[in-house]
Amino acid sequence: MGEKPLQIETEARHIAIIMDGNGRWAKKRGLPRSVGHQQGVKALRQLVRNLKNTSLECLTLYAFSSENWKRSEDEVDDLMNMMRKFIKSDLQELVDNDIRLKIIGEWQSLASDIVEMLENALAKTRNGDQTIVVALNYGSQNEIARAAAKAASLGTVTQDSISKHLDTADLPPLDLLIRTSGEVRLSNFLLWQSAYAEMLFVDTLWPDFTPDILNKALKDFDKRERRYGGR
Ligand code: IPE
Ligand code: IPE
Ligand code: MG
Repeated sequence: MGEKPLQIETEARHIAIIMDGNGRWAKKRGLPRSVGHQQGVKALRQLVRNLKNTSLECLTLYAFSSENWKRSEDEVDDLMNMMRKFIKSDLQELVDNDIRLKIIGEWQSLASDIVEMLENALAKTRNGDQTIVVALNYGSQNEIARAAAKAASLGTVTQDSISKHLDTADLPPLDLLIRTSGEVRLSNFLLWQSAYAEMLFVDTLWPDFTPDILNKALKDFDKRERRYGGR
């Protein structure tokens, strides 16, 4: 089996996605929200599989926000159980595909069995060449506050010293942020990192998102002119 040729060359190194709309996808069909989340996991799996076909270095996914604890206990339990299931079923595929897993947010305060599974997954995937970053129990304001506190404890608080202590410190700069489901807000995701990221808001509900839509988004990104305040 030879190496498959790269199908999608893009200038983007790092893109992030707010995977939103699972509940509405289910509601439209008269199904429970949990089914929407299950379909969302399928969309996620397809995207992870497509990563190898792209020149992207890093794909960051918003999976569970620090505000999502406000949902019903049943829904939170469903989401946590799906996380357990996903790690069990898909970890080997990540390893086989040379994907490095990274988690951002306060994931260490999740249930201890999940923390253990994640630690194992991080260890097993540490040599991967492309990175999937999963934001779990993540809130950007909290991330910035933690980074600033760390910077202050070590010396002066500057733009640089905060950047260096963000959960994303070792990742390439964020190029493109996509949100599905038609909502036009960041919901406490990557606020610092988005300073000069390009934004794309699409109406597609997350379970309907396909690698093809991502590939189109990358093409659209490559046409954009980034100015960073200069001319
Ligand atoms: C995104 O879908 C998944 C998570 C936030 C975990 P939602 O559950 O927010 O779906 P909507 O926004 O209610 O449609
Ligand atoms: C953001 O979506 C969080 C994730 C996609 C994981 P939400 O559905 O929680 O955001 P709001 O509540 O609509 O702002
Ligand atoms: Mg939502």
